[in-house]
Amino acid sequence: MAFSIQPLDAPLGVEVIGFDVDRDATPDAAARLKQAWLDHVVLCFRDQHVGPAGFVKLAGLFGKPTPQPLQRAEYQVAGHPELRVLSSEHRDTLGDNRLLRIGGSWHSDHSHQQSPPRGTMLHALQLPSHGGNTSFTNQHAAFKALPAAKQAQAKSLMVHHVYNSPYAPRKMQTLSAAEAQTAAPQAVHPLARPHPVDGRLALFLNPIRTARIEGMTDEASQELLDEMLEHSTQPQFRYSHTWRKGDVLIWDNPQALHMASHDYPENELRLMHRTLVRSD
Ligand code: SIN
Repeated sequence: MAFSIQPLDAPLGVEVIGFDVDRDATPDAAARLKQAWLDHVVLCFRDQHVGPAGFVKLAGLFGKPTPQPLQRAEYQVAGHPELRVLSSEHRDTLGDNRLLRIGGSWHSDHSHQQSPPRGTMLHALQLPSHGGNTSFTNQHAAFKALPAAKQAQAKSLMVHHVYNSPYAPRKMQTLSAAEAQTAAPQAVHPLARPHPVDGRLALFLNPIRTARIEGMTDEASQELLDEMLEHSTQPQFRYSHTWRKGDVLIWDNPQALHMASHDYPENELRLMHRTLVRSD
């Protein structure tokens, strides 16, 4: 095969070099990439100077790209309901009009859904002169590194996820009443969540959405979730991706927390396309 998969110098993540979606998108290549995705959590395809159709085709190697939960005009990519524009210029237009700075604290995408998406894929279209990294954790490695008693405790607990937890470190964007009907469900998930592919356990955290652990007080819930977050975000479980224009990144939500850094000048544009992939 013409492309190569190379580990990054980090506790998780691989680079895919020389991948041409029109030439290399074969069933064999998809199987190889999906195994690397499961094993390494984050895959970075370098130099993907493709349009929206090429990006969707790449995502299709990993599962089914699905329509975005929020379909507002400013987020849409013409002809591609499965894509969303992520721009540093987007504001909370139905709220206080602040810059949204999307994804700016540790989270896992759409964990308030019964079946959160397996993968999230981003395509870097325009980048600020510096900063704007996306950081990831390996939640399977974090689970495995817990003492046995903590693993057993995590395995016994169920966690309630909502659109915006009262304990969240950041405020989600304001939804219209109609959007809240479809984009703000609630769900209960295990704290030690089995992976949909092979059942490996990962700590399923999401500080913006976890409201409480079932059977515990809010205070005790938050204390335990904070402790698990502190454990998971230690350097040995982390990778910070410095973007290059044309990078396409896909990560395995059941095994990762992620966070965007909005540490770049406010007048510089950071522009991405995003798609969510469901397991096939
Ligand atoms: C997200 O959290 O969905 C976006 C992450 C990023 O923009 O780096």
